Amino acid sequence: MEQATGERSAARRPKRGELVEVEIETLAFGGRGVARNEGLVVFVAGGLPGDRVRAEVTKAKKRFAEARAVELLSPGPERVADVCTHGGEPCPGAPWQGLAYERQLVHKSAQVDEALRRIGELDGFELEEIVPATEQWRYRNKLEYSFGEDEEGEPTLGFHARGRWDLIVDVEDCHLASHVGNEARNAVREWARAESVPAYDGRARRGVLRNLAVREGRRSGQIQTRLVTSPARFPRPPVDLHTQIEGDSGGTDGPTGVLGEERLREELCGLKLQMSHGAFFQTNTEMAESLYGVVAEFAGLSGRERVFDLYCGIGTIGLTLAAQAGEVWGLEIVPEAIADAERNAERNKIANAKFVAANARTGTRDLIEQAGKADVVVIDPPRAGLSQKIVRRVLECEAKKIVYVSCNPTTLAPNAAQLVEAGYRLARVRPVDMFPQTPHIECVALLERA
Ligand SMILES: C[S@@+](CC[C@H](N)C(=O)[O-])C[C@H]1O[C@@H](n2cnc3c(N)ncnc32)[C@H](O)[C@@H]1O
Repeated sequence: MEQATGERSAARRPKRGELVEVEIETLAFGGRGVARNEGLVVFVAGGLPGDRVRAEVTKAKKRFAEARAVELLSPGPERVADVCTHGGEPCPGAPWQGLAYERQLVHKSAQVDEALRRIGELDGFELEEIVPATEQWRYRNKLEYSFGEDEEGEPTLGFHARGRWDLIVDVEDCHLASHVGNEARNAVREWARAESVPAYDGRARRGVLRNLAVREGRRSGQIQTRLVTSPARFPRPPVDLHTQIEGDSGGTDGPTGVLGEERLREELCGLKLQMSHGAFFQTNTEMAESLYGVVAEFAGLSGRERVFDLYCGIGTIGLTLAAQAGEVWGLEIVPEAIADAERNAERNKIANAKFVAANARTGTRDLIEQAGKADVVVIDPPRAGLSQKIVRRVLECEAKKIVYVSCNPTTLAPNAAQLVEAGYRLARVRPVDMFPQTPHIECVALLERA
C-alpha cells in the first residue's frame, strides 16, 4: 500500500508518457493497483491484483510513479468479466467491477484494518465482519453525467472516457443506476437533441449544457434532476424530471430555479422523507438502512439519552434514533437540509428532535449551551473527517459514547486516535459496503469513555 513508497533506494524514475509492463501486487487506498517497475512503486489505475498490464506513466515522482493501464496483457486470478461498459470502455463509476464481489469485501475490510492500525496506530479494537451490500448493481440513487458532442455535433450525455477530459462516452444503460434512473438520463439527452440545445464547449466557450445529476426516490419512483448550464436561453426540460437549473457564475438567461416539485420523496427505515435539491442524501438507499441499523446498535440507547447528530443532513440518523432516545439534536451546515430535517420530523410526528443550521466547528459549543451536554454523539462528516478543532468541540460534549460514521478510513484513523488520546476507547468497528464495484469504504466506529 501507499507506505511501500518509502522502501526503494536506487530505482529508475520513468518518464511521463512512457509505457511500462508491470504486474499488480495489491490494491492501494483509493483503489489503484500497486506494482513495481525497476524498483519504483507504481500506482496503476485500472490494474487489479495479479494482472499483468501495459501502463502509461502519467506522473513520475522521486519516490513513486502513477500510471494508467492501457492494455491487459494477462488477467489476474481474481479477475471476473466486466458487467458495465460504455462504448467498450469499463464504466468509470465501477473501477473494481473486474474483482469478484467477495474479494472486494476482503480488500475493503483489510483497508479499514490497515488504516486504523498504521495511520491511527490503534489496536485492541474489534474489527467486525463487513456488512455486504444487498444489491451489487443498480444500487445508486444518484449519478452525475457530463454533456459532450458526437461527430455530427449532436449532444451526447455520459461519462468522460478514461484519461480524457474532452471526450464523453454516451451512456445508454449504466448498471449502477436503476432502469428508472437510466430512462431519466436518456430522456434529457432526447430532449436536448429534439430541442437542439447544444452541449457546452469549454475550449470554444460556447454552447449550453454542462452536466446533469439524476436523483431517484427508490421507494417513491420519483425523479429529481439538476442541470448545470451556461447563461443562455433554452426550452424547458420535461416537467416530470423535476429539474433544478443552475446557470454558471454569470447566472442564466433561460429557465431558472426548480421546474416541478421542489423536493424528492423517499422512504427510509419506515420514515417518510423529503429532500431538497441541495441537501445530502446517502446514495445507496437500501444500504443506508443497514448503516443506520449499525449506528442504532452501537448507540445502544435506553430511551433516556440526549443524542447529538452532528453533520445530520436531512436528519435521517437522528430521526431513526428518536424513538429510542430522550431527545435528539441535529446540526448541519446547509440550511436547506435543516429545513428538510424539521419538515421530516413534523411529517413523521417526531416531537423530540430539534435541528440547528450551523458549522460544526463554530456551532457545537452553542449547541451544548442550548441543549446541555450529550450522552451519545453521532458524527457523520464528509471524506475529509474532523479538524483537530472539531475533535476538541466533540470532546466538550463529554458523551459516554461517540458513534463515528466514516466514508474514509484514512481520516477516521487519525480522528479516532485523537479521541483515544483524550480518554476514549475504540471498542468496535464495522465496515458496511455501500458502494459495490468501487473502492469506497463506509464504516461505523464506536468509541466509549474508558
Ligand atoms: C456524509 S454527509 C452525512 C449526512 C447525514 N448524516 C446522512 O446520513 O444523510 C455529511 C454532511 O455534513 C454536512 N457538512 C459538511 N461540512 C459541515 C460542517 N463544517 N458543519 C456541519 N455540517 C457539515 C454536509 O452538508 C452533509 O450534509
